[in-house]
Amino acid sequence: MTRRPRDASPYTMETMESSLVGAFRSENLIYRAIEDDESDKHFIFRSFWSDPVNYGFALLGILRPQSRQNGYKEIEEMIRTACLAVMVCLPYEKDETSSQASMQMDTPTELVFDTRRKSIPIGILIVERTGPDVMRRARIGIQIAAPYQNRGYGRESINWALDWSFRFADLHRVEIGTGAYNERATALYKKMGFRLEGVMKEALFMDRKWHDLLSFGMLAREWESLRSAKLALDDLQRGFSFKQTDENQNRKAR
Ligand SMILES: CC(C)(COP(=O)(O)OP(=O)(O)OC[C@H]1O[C@@H](n2cnc3c(N)ncnc32)[C@H](O)[C@@H]1OP(=O)(O)O)[C@@H](O)C(=O)NCCC(=O)NCCS
Repeated sequence: MTRRPRDASPYTMETMESSLVGAFRSENLIYRAIEDDESDKHFIFRSFWSDPVNYGFALLGILRPQSRQNGYKEIEEMIRTACLAVMVCLPYEKDETSSQASMQMDTPTELVFDTRRKSIPIGILIVERTGPDVMRRARIGIQIAAPYQNRGYGRESINWALDWSFRFADLHRVEIGTGAYNERATALYKKMGFRLEGVMKEALFMDRKWHDLLSFGMLAREWESLRSAKLALDDLQRGFSFKQTDENQNRKAR
């Protein structure tokens, strides 16, 4: 998705088209709506709702085996109420771990290889309102399937969700939270530019210990400065590589 700050320039039909064309993609990933069907519900239930590690890290509630019936009900509710509920997918050609992943997730291959949609689901991402519409605030929830974690897909999809939230949903602030024991999530959110806004002391009980609940946030204007800084850096790097190409060509010509 092109990352254009709000007032960069007036849109012509052409600039709008080029801005929208990649709206459901990021560099390596595709985003599509979660379907209220057996295939998607099975994937979510098997990969997240019934994986105790993912379930415990995503703070879904008291850790206990979930019945498929309840799990499916929760998924249906999530699809109905979230302002954005998407499957994070890899296009076929990008996947290197598909056979390994289908083995590890113990999921029938036809469900992992989503032939209907020419993409492989690797996670889910939700944006849900945390207050009345007029407050324009929402929270991101994300889960990446275990075989695909720590490969940059979490960062990429959260960045996409931030872009969506501020460019298309006109949100004012986006929140994200995690338990203090989730070092990967905490490190990632800080590095991405989220501010630590609150520590709810000993709000989570897990395995006979109390853990702090961390709450992070980003405002629309903070996102704008991050994206402007990124655009400026990209321009600088592009200029640098042009300069290098020019110098190389001059050297060759000499
Ligand atoms: C949390 C989660 C969404 C992150 O997505 P991911 O694809 O695994 O993460 P990424 O690869 O994009 O980024 C992880 C970053 O944390 C860093 N990291 C990983 N483990 C770390 C650790 N133990 N301590 C500090 N940093 C760590 C990585 O180096 C990477 O940083 P980098 O991009 O600068 O290299 C994903 O792991 C997940 O779904 N986990 C289970 C459920 C969950 O925790 N959900 C979020 C709760 S709100």
